[in-house]
Amino acid sequence: LREHEEFTKVKNIATIELGRYEIETWYFSPFPPEYNDSLQLYFCEFCLTFMKRKEQLQRHMRKCDLKHPPGDEIYRSGTLSMFEIDGKKNKVYGQNLCYLAKLFLDHKTLYYDVDLFLFYVLCECDDRGCHMVGYFSKEKHSEESYNLACILTLPPYQRKGYGKFLIAFSYELSKKEGKVGTPERPLSDLGLLSYRGYWTRVLLDILKKHKGNISIKELSDMTAIKAEDILNTLQGLELIQYRKGQHVICADPKVLDRHLKAAGRGGLEVDVCKLIWTPYK
Ligand code: ACO
Ligand code: ZN
Repeated sequence: LREHEEFTKVKNIATIELGRYEIETWYFSPFPPEYNDSLQLYFCEFCLTFMKRKEQLQRHMRKCDLKHPPGDEIYRSGTLSMFEIDGKKNKVYGQNLCYLAKLFLDHKTLYYDVDLFLFYVLCECDDRGCHMVGYFSKEKHSEESYNLACILTLPPYQRKGYGKFLIAFSYELSKKEGKVGTPERPLSDLGLLSYRGYWTRVLLDILKKHKGNISIKELSDMTAIKAEDILNTLQGLELIQYRKGQHVICADPKVLDRHLKAAGRGGLEVDVCKLIWTPYK
């Protein structure tokens, strides 16, 4: 039945309430059948339990003792915190997060097998608690060197730089693992725009510093961005020439400056000193 529903993709839930926001949904999400006759669902913003009626949520909020996501706080800088949640240790939370995320992710299949994933939930914290802004998921072991499976910034928080923060964070984890990484494919339009923006800014900054005298391999070692993604990005910027069977970077300073201007400034930086994390084993 679930598979059938997912296949037919009739959008079911129109809006959700989450914390202080009422959010219009974008896509179908395969909530258990008993929720499918509701136009609106009410989420506990901390444990992500969802309910059909506002009174149920109010009752839940009186007894729910979470004020932040479960799991470990691995990053804190100012009011921003990142929590790491192991899908195996917090199965219900992981599933709830997937149901929620699917409302905004079109082409992704929902993983019921949350055991195999880690979830990185970004929060804005105040005296009422830590409020989820967005998240990304990551396979504990990826054969394809994926360092990110799904990424979402909740609509009220979009276009403020949180997406690029989450992407940057995923590469900081890869650097700590000593591996290169790449996002799982396919990317959505917004996903591709955000990644292209991130890759462009990071690579242009380094090229500028090194006056273009650097190889793709060195760029990859420095950034944990997979060589293929570097090549594609630089090709898109027309900074690659093909000479004697080799791709070489040709970074004319004037062209670099023009691209850097167009790329604008990256908003929220990851302060690596504030990341306290060891790779999953
Ligand atoms: N229109 C045009 N450009 C956009 C838009 C938009 N609506 N949203 C993002 N961008 C581009 C811009 O270039 C932007 O940089 P800029 O603001 O400096 O110009 C860049 O993407 C990133 O912007 P951020 O503010 O850092 O990203 P945001 O917090 O909005 O999150 C994300 C981006 C995560 C892709 C968000 O749009 C989202 O959650 N979308 C729905 C879910 C989704 O599609 N996720 C990716 C699926 S692919 C995967 O999971 C591997
Ligand atoms: Zn709760």
